[in-house]
Amino acid sequence: MSEIFRAPGQRSVQRCAACGHELPETDGAADCPACGGLLDVLHALPADAGGTALSADGLRASFGEHCCAQPARGAHASASGVWRFQQIVMPAAGAAVTSHPEGNTPLMRRDALLRFTGCDDLLVKHEGHNPTGSFKDRGMTVGVTQAVRIGASAVACASTGNTSAALSSYAAQAGIPGLVFVPVGKVALGKLTQTLAYGARTLLVRGDFDECLRLAQRASKELGIYLLNSINPWRVEGQKTIVLELLQQLGWNAPDFLVLPAGNLGNTAAFGKALREARALGLINRVPRLVSVQAAGAAPFAASFPSFAVRGTVQAETVATAIRIGDPASWDRAVRAIRETDGLVISCTDEEIVEAKLAIDACGVGCEAASAASVAGVKQLVARGVIARGDRVVAVLTGHVLKDPGMLQWLHQERESGDGANRPIEIEATVSAVESVLRDARGVRR
Ligand code: F0G
Repeated sequence: MSEIFRAPGQRSVQRCAACGHELPETDGAADCPACGGLLDVLHALPADAGGTALSADGLRASFGEHCCAQPARGAHASASGVWRFQQIVMPAAGAAVTSHPEGNTPLMRRDALLRFTGCDDLLVKHEGHNPTGSFKDRGMTVGVTQAVRIGASAVACASTGNTSAALSSYAAQAGIPGLVFVPVGKVALGKLTQTLAYGARTLLVRGDFDECLRLAQRASKELGIYLLNSINPWRVEGQKTIVLELLQQLGWNAPDFLVLPAGNLGNTAAFGKALREARALGLINRVPRLVSVQAAGAAPFAASFPSFAVRGTVQAETVATAIRIGDPASWDRAVRAIRETDGLVISCTDEEIVEAKLAIDACGVGCEAASAASVAGVKQLVARGVIARGDRVVAVLTGHVLKDPGMLQWLHQERESGDGANRPIEIEATVSAVESVLRDARGVRR
């Protein structure tokens, strides 16, 4: 218990996962000043006003109380699916948080997806229902709140598009300048235009995401800007709440498998930390097996599984541009997450991802391509006999269908092979034209 939480009443600290070096929680370093390792946040065990650690029941009740909008801690914060877990996310934030609010995303069951995957008990947690349309809002509300707490002059990130949109939005709300580095020509239209709309200074870098991240790291260190990529430990704290919230939605009964798309591995790391802490606090009595799914053209982590003996890099290429990453930054943290949960790392081809996306879209749920990797992964693991039909599985959909309108246009209007395409039909403005479309069986999809 001692390495997972500090004694009740102590302040949170940032601790290097590699060498153990400790920094105060308000230090703005992006990584360990002693060895360059990644930092983790360590909180005190949540306690009552008298300093006695809360029981699991006490904690569950406290998270439940803050579940619905109550003005007690500021209207925004209390309605947030992130800040109701404040005691194990950022206990010292008080009421001064930058929140839209975010979280409170739905857990959905769709018969069409049960048929598609062959899993009879599949739920999808749709993080595309966040304010900027992706799970990144959960990390960003905490990251930008931290930036304000430490008096940062500006915030920055490298991104494949969703992090930049979230940073741009939350920086605008906090009233601090945002600077984003994105790979030129490789960011989906919805994400790039969103980033511009909220106002962050947007740099189109001639290079891939991995080069953008190296540049953002160097520039923020040399120019004194607070770095908000998922190597930032506070981003991880916010993203833990995807897991906390879904466990709460399931009455604190852990599923058998928890499946997510993986790129830079920040979310895999956050899921592992959430499960470790939830188990240590007694909120759950077993952990699900975590499954990280990479796109086959961007799968260095999957290639290294199960031994993780070699940390490889690749020149990444995939239609799932959000996870087009060849040198994932949160590698060590993610290895720990997979090992501690008896987890798996797999890869899915672009064809498998597109097939899953078409299935998710066609049942009215919708998601961006990278998100569909989780459902494609479930289908693959059922076929391989790793997931049994009756296992309870939660797959996380990380981004909204409208993030990538270019891909939708390609799938439905431009592609030569029309499998799953719903082509629009241009007509004269007459009822007879409508009638003739309806008569033509090929004109109506189902
Ligand atoms: N799904 C979506 C929609 C994403 O945008 C990302 C990452 C991931 C999955 C993978 O998460 O990196 O924590 O393993 N997007 C980052 C960005 C890289 O810049 O928006 P991860």
